[in-house]
Amino acid sequence: MGPAGNEKGPCELKQLFVDYRDATAACPVAVARSGRGVDELGDRLDTYGFAVAQMPGDLSPQDAIDFLAEAWSLGAPYVPALYRLPGAEQFNRPYADIRANDAADHPGFAVRSAQEFHVDGTLDGPGAVPVVIMYCVRPAVRGGESLLLNAIGVFHALRETDPAAAAVLTRPTVLRRSSTLRGVEAYTDGPAFVVTDDGGIVNRYSDVPSTTTWIAPAGEEDALARALAFIRQESGSDGRYRVSVRLAAGECLVVRNDRVSHARQGYEDTAAHPRQLLRATFGTSPR
Ligand SMILES: [Fe+2]
Repeated sequence: MGPAGNEKGPCELKQLFVDYRDATAACPVAVARSGRGVDELGDRLDTYGFAVAQMPGDLSPQDAIDFLAEAWSLGAPYVPALYRLPGAEQFNRPYADIRANDAADHPGFAVRSAQEFHVDGTLDGPGAVPVVIMYCVRPAVRGGESLLLNAIGVFHALRETDPAAAAVLTRPTVLRRSSTLRGVEAYTDGPAFVVTDDGGIVNRYSDVPSTTTWIAPAGEEDALARALAFIRQESGSDGRYRVSVRLAAGECLVVRNDRVSHARQGYEDTAAHPRQLLRATFGTSPR
């Protein structure tokens, strides 16, 4: 079934068939204060599940995020469930400052190492955090690329070739995601992908060794192993389903967290030029 026959299907359908090697996929869209560029950015986001915006230079990082949130009626930033738990108070903020800090506690934000593919919202259910916006204040001196995985595209490809393997990923407790924040013990079990009644696919695919436990239902161990081998193969290097993006200062990466998983390369920076991102997550889809 191709996209042409599914005009009435869910809007993320286009994304199932795109190729992340397309030159336009990660090409920044210039956004002006007048709103010029916002529609094109939205089209990119719809098509690829992510988009890169070059924001007006006179907007502060937070204003740049708010500008896009307002343009798409995303509402106020949503604080992920993990950060609302007792013990996580220091992270309970609408805008997260992401930079290495040798004295800080956050297992993902405060370190320079690579991060494997995941969706934001460790403890949130599938689709609870549909949008993530990351504004680049300052890139790393070396490395630090953001990686995007067309997760629902990979899932669709898998179900075309090995439906039994794809089906395991939709089991209600196949994927456990656990907090690794010090002093916060919590986890959420759920599917890696949800197929909705109208044929849509919701992504929760995360494969970070420290926070992810795959739990195969009895008798489906082989099918899960095949599913993970397929996705890890497709996400292991840039290609049809994976692209690397190096954000420049003043650029925003907008991600449909309910369709695309993201990761990060390790990086090097210096005290004088620390890599710095400002991130906000949203509980509403763009309108
Ligand atoms: Fe993330």
